[in-house]
Amino acid sequence: MQPDQMSVVLTGACGGIGNLLARQLAARGASLFLCGRDETVLAALQQELQAKASAGQVIDARALDLTDDAQVDAWLVSIEQTRQPINVLVNNAGICKFEMFDRLGDSDIEQMMSLNSIVPMKLTRRLLPQLKRQPAARVVNIASTFGAIGFPGYSVYSASKYAIRGFSQALTRELSDTRVRIGCILPRATRTAINSERVVEMNRRLNVAMDSPEQVAAAVLKFICSERAELALGWPEKLLVRLNSVFPTLIGNAISKKLPLIKQYAS
Ligand SMILES: NC(=O)c1ccc[n+]([C@@H]2O[C@H](COP(=O)([O-])OP(=O)(O)OC[C@H]3O[C@@H](n4cnc5c(N)ncnc54)[C@H](OP(=O)(O)O)[C@@H]3O)[C@@H](O)[C@H]2O)c1
Repeated sequence: MQPDQMSVVLTGACGGIGNLLARQLAARGASLFLCGRDETVLAALQQELQAKASAGQVIDARALDLTDDAQVDAWLVSIEQTRQPINVLVNNAGICKFEMFDRLGDSDIEQMMSLNSIVPMKLTRRLLPQLKRQPAARVVNIASTFGAIGFPGYSVYSASKYAIRGFSQALTRELSDTRVRIGCILPRATRTAINSERVVEMNRRLNVAMDSPEQVAAAVLKFICSERAELALGWPEKLLVRLNSVFPTLIGNAISKKLPLIKQYAS
């Protein structure tokens, strides 16, 4: 499917990857239903994209907390009322707290699991009847390299991204006799606000490359247009994801050697 044939529900449009993805989709003619939490940023983005939109291209934005079911329901009802046939859902909003597990609180665990795993499942379930009615439809979940490689300091984040990846794989198979194509993309470290200065410095010392949000948004856009089920971004991350699934002890031993440095930045 090409962007000018898409009506996209995109979460996390105020953030690094989501904001650029919204811009790239809008520039290629997609209608957009955006959400984020920052009302001012969203309003400015909507105004800017609307000013450049072509006739019939809808650009809509709503500030809300995705973990509040009532707010999400009201948003989805308002989208339904536009009668725009939604054929793409991109579950991009996410949070990450880099910290050793015993320093996380219950609320950190609940927030990461809720926003990164449960919210995308609920949104997919809510939109699925509509997606199934379209001639072609796509759901793209933004996971992470850490959804395929468990990494110290990211235990709960990894769990939340493994969850959305497992959900995506099972749903891909469950919907294989429909016109809805599910995809899960695994970006590697990216220079956005989700990573603190401490994480950026640790990545530098670990020789972990960080992509620009522009690069990742472009890769996500290409992935949305495809029918692929899964894609890991970056080299050597693509290889490490495969190696970790076959030889987890090998990758685990290599990561454990870096534990003292990781602990230094997590505390
Ligand atoms: N950056 C990386 O290194 C990296 C690597 C792999 C995967 N990812 C994944 O890529 C996706 C985008 O991340 P990013 O790097 O662009 O991070 P980001 O800049 O922090 O953006 C996150 C977005 O999620 C929104 N959000 C957070 N909590 C929300 C809530 N309760 N309700 C509604 N929206 C909420 C934020 O809205 P506000 O800004 O308005 O709060 C923001 O728009 C995430 O799923 C992340 O896990 C990122």
